[in-house]
Amino acid sequence: MDGGCIFHFFLNDILEKVYQPIYGVERRMNIFLTGATGFLGKKLISKLIKQGHFLYVLVRNEKKFAGLLKGNTAIEKQQIVAVYGDITNPSLVKDHTVINVMENKIDTVYHMAALLSFDEEMKKETFSVNVDGTRNVLEFSKRIGVRKFIYVSTAYTVGKGVIGREQLYSTEQEFVNYYEQSKAVGEEVVFSYKNDFETMIMRPAIIIGDTKTGEADTNFALYGLLKGIRMMKRIISKNDFYKTKSFRVVFASETNSNLVPVDYVADVLAVASEHGEKETIYNITNPNPLSNQTVFNIIKKTLQFPNLEIGSIDGEYELTKEELMLHEKMRVFEEYLSRSIEFDSQNTRTLLKAASLEELDLNEAVFEHMLLSYLQPELVTQ
Ligand SMILES: NC(=O)c1ccc[n+]([C@@H]2O[C@H](COP(=O)([O-])OP(=O)(O)OC[C@H]3O[C@@H](n4cnc5c(N)ncnc54)[C@H](OP(=O)(O)O)[C@@H]3O)[C@@H](O)[C@H]2O)c1
Repeated sequence: MDGGCIFHFFLNDILEKVYQPIYGVERRMNIFLTGATGFLGKKLISKLIKQGHFLYVLVRNEKKFAGLLKGNTAIEKQQIVAVYGDITNPSLVKDHTVINVMENKIDTVYHMAALLSFDEEMKKETFSVNVDGTRNVLEFSKRIGVRKFIYVSTAYTVGKGVIGREQLYSTEQEFVNYYEQSKAVGEEVVFSYKNDFETMIMRPAIIIGDTKTGEADTNFALYGLLKGIRMMKRIISKNDFYKTKSFRVVFASETNSNLVPVDYVADVLAVASEHGEKETIYNITNPNPLSNQTVFNIIKKTLQFPNLEIGSIDGEYELTKEELMLHEKMRVFEEYLSRSIEFDSQNTRTLLKAASLEELDLNEAVFEHMLLSYLQPELVTQ
């Protein structure tokens, strides 16, 4: 049994009297989460703790768990219990006695743990974590008798398509990378357990930072791109050639990328446990995505990189060595920047309505505030 468990159950009765459920939460739940130490996971657990739920979090080591507890009050810390394990381990947990503790007690599982790699050479690891790992979490959930299983997938299981439906896609369709395919296979595996517990699939688009604080503990997607552009700014600032010349990034500026803030995604996930429908897929997407041109202009402004320019994909260029360097780094995003995808999010709208929440409205001002808070927090008054 993990260290905190006995204490946790002892405290359960006391805490029951101390906490008043908030945010319209009707019932305090016991929730098991994987991926809680990740970018999205951290945001979700801080929300669930504030709602008064008890959380069992799968963590790979003590250091990770200590990191999770940071910033929580003493009483909040008692709401989180570590379950040490790894999703690629067929039995999931290190200490099997935890099964007796969790048996028939878990209302909802949020399975978020995944390997987010677009690297072709990581195919084996990607499938091992995202498919076999998902199966291991499902088997464990079945063994301990959970009621609901919420799988966090990605809107990009749409693959190379341009219409994102709230339905399963064929796992044989064309995908941009193995990450997408592994998540699509993971979805299929999740729904194959529909007779064991309620299953739901939540599909966020590209997750960006918190709308209020800008905080984004990730190097994935937009943040990988920002890192690359920032690095190029540093490199070319020492190069006289760029004092009079633009630094060009070539992509289809009229397309859009579907960005969703992490706090919004966490809000949708949090209400899914109470208001979500079984065997339903939810696209957590932006109904009015900003164009890539707008996103790029805001990046240019907030990074204070005035000679950064978008080059048209129809133009004929000889890119400089430095420009080529950035394009090489951007190669994995090329597919995402070259087409717009129309996502249906009717199920998510219905879910939000049931929970009296509004659908996302990520306008230019909010995006700029978010990015500025991330890049130059000293310039932002919250
Ligand atoms: N970020 C996005 O833009 C985005 C967009 C759409 C969907 N999603 C989905 O959202 C979920 C969370 O993404 P994220 O951005 O928060 O990812 P992240 O920051 O990379 O976090 C990944 C999480 O998975 C855990 N994990 C990885 N391999 C594991 C293993 N073998 N055993 C146990 N835990 C393991 C990590 O644990 P450690 O801390 O120990 O490494 C971490 O908690 C994923 O399912 C992803 O597919 C993300």
